[in-house]
Amino acid sequence: MIFGRVKPLDAILATAEKKSLHRSLGALQLTLLGVGAIIGTGIFVLTAEAAQKAGPGMMISFVIAGAVCAVAALCYSELASMVPVSGSAYTYTYAVMGELLAWMVGWALILEYAVAASAVSVGWSGYFVGQLGGWFGITLPQEIIAGPYAGGIINLPAVVIALLITGLLVVGTSESAKVNAVLVAIKVTALTAFIILSLPVMQMENFEPFMPQGWGDGSGAGVIGAAASIFFAYVGFDAVSTAAEETKNPQRNVPIGLIGSLAICTVFYMLVAAGAIGSPIGSQPVTGADGSWLAPGSTELAQRCAAISAAAAEPLSCSKEALAHVLRQIGYLNVGNLIGLAAFLALPSVILVMIYGQTRMFFVMARDGLLPEKLSTIHPKWKTPHVITIITGLGVTFAAAFLPVGKLADIANAGTLFAFFMVAIAVMRLRKTEPTRRRPFRAPLLFVVAPLTMIGCVVLYWFLPPDAKLVLPGWGAIGLVLYFAYGFRKSHLGRGLVDVPEHTAYEEVDPPVPGTR
Ligand code: ALA
Repeated sequence: MIFGRVKPLDAILATAEKKSLHRSLGALQLTLLGVGAIIGTGIFVLTAEAAQKAGPGMMISFVIAGAVCAVAALCYSELASMVPVSGSAYTYTYAVMGELLAWMVGWALILEYAVAASAVSVGWSGYFVGQLGGWFGITLPQEIIAGPYAGGIINLPAVVIALLITGLLVVGTSESAKVNAVLVAIKVTALTAFIILSLPVMQMENFEPFMPQGWGDGSGAGVIGAAASIFFAYVGFDAVSTAAEETKNPQRNVPIGLIGSLAICTVFYMLVAAGAIGSPIGSQPVTGADGSWLAPGSTELAQRCAAISAAAAEPLSCSKEALAHVLRQIGYLNVGNLIGLAAFLALPSVILVMIYGQTRMFFVMARDGLLPEKLSTIHPKWKTPHVITIITGLGVTFAAAFLPVGKLADIANAGTLFAFFMVAIAVMRLRKTEPTRRRPFRAPLLFVVAPLTMIGCVVLYWFLPPDAKLVLPGWGAIGLVLYFAYGFRKSHLGRGLVDVPEHTAYEEVDPPVPGTR
C-alpha cells in the first residue's frame, strides 16, 4: 500500500541529530534570512503586472496574498519547530502523509525554487537594461533582451545572470551572513527611499477607479487574479524553515523568523503599492485600442505598450523596472536610477538562494533514494554537488531565456500553493496522530488557521491565469510517472532502509544555507 510508506518522525529527527550541523543562527539572523529571500522581483518588477491586473485595487491584492502567507506561515512554524530538519514541506509530508505525496510535494517545489529563480533572473534583466540606459544611455536591441513573447529572440541578460550564479554555486561560493545582511540593508533602504519620496506626493485621484477589473473571473485579471500573481512577492519565507537545522533554539527562533520576516515585508509592500498607485503615471491597466483588457506577458500588451510609450510616459503596467520608473516619473531621476542599482545588486542573491534551495531539496530526495544518488556526486576539488547544480542551473537558464517574468512567477506560485496546501493538511493530521508530541510552537486556532490556508491556496490557484493553472497537473503527471518508474522501487524506506546511511555524500558536504554564516 503506497500510502502506507510513512517515514517515522523519530527516524527523521534521528537523522537530523546525526548530522549535527552547527547551530549558530538566532532570531534576528533568521528574520534577515527571510527578508533576504522574500524581497525581490515580486515587489521590484511584478508591481507592474499587479497594476495591469487590478489597477489601484492591487493594494487589496497585496493584503490577500499576505494573509494567505500569514496563515501558511503559522502552519509552517508549528511543523518547522517540531521537525527542524532540511527538506521543508517535502519532509513534513513524508512524515505525515507518506512517500507518494511527499514526492509530489518535492516535485512541485521544483516549480517553487527553480522556476522562481528563472523569474527573478528575468526580473533582474529588466533592471540591468534600465541601468545601462539610465546611467550610460546605452540601449540594447530588443532581440537580445526579451523572449519571443515581446518581439525578441532571447533574454540574454537573464541567461548570463542565471549561468553566473550557477557557476558561483558550482565552485562553492556561498553567500556569507555578512553579505546577506548588506544586501538586505540595500533592499530595505531602496524600498524605504521609495516610500519616503512617493507617499507625500500621492495624487489621490489616481486611486479612481479603484477596481477597474473587479475581483476577477479566472482569466487572471482582477484583484484576486493580481493577488494570485503577487503572491510571488512573498514566496521565500519558507526558506527560513530550511535553515532550522542550523538554528539555535529553533523551537523559538524559527517561528519568529518566519512570521517576523513576513510581517516586515507586508508592511513595506503595502506602502510601496500606495506610492506607486499615487504617482503621476498612476496604475490603471493598459487596454487595447478597443478598450479590451490585455494580459501581462502577452504580445498584444507588449505591442500596445511600445505604441503608447513612443508618444507619452510609459504606463506602470509596461515598465520592466516598476519602482525605478515611478520615481523617475515623480522627478527623482537619479534616485530612480539608484533604486534600479539596488535591485540590480540585490536580486542575484534571491536567485542564489532559490537555486541553492533547489539543489538542497534534490539532495534530501536523493538521500531518501527517490532520485539517483549519482545526481549528488561531489566535485573532488570544489566539494560541491556540481552535477545537480549544473542540471538545475541549465533548466533555470532555459526558462529564463524565453519566458516572460509574470508567467514564470505564476508557474512558481502554482507549485508553492500546492506545497502550502499539503503543509496545512500535514499539521492538522499530526495534531490528531501525535497529540502528545512536544510542540514548541503551537499555531493558535489551528483548526481555523489550517483550513483557511487550504481555502486561500485553492482560491489563489483558481485565479491564476489558465495556462499557469494547467502547468501544475501536467508537471504532476510527469512526476507520477517518474515516481513509479524509479523512486517507488529505489526508495530507501520502501527497501526497509528506514534510517539514512551514516556517510552519504550529502552529509559530508552539506554546506550551510546561503546567507547564514
Ligand atoms: N519573493 C521573491 C521575489 O519576489 C521570490 O523575488
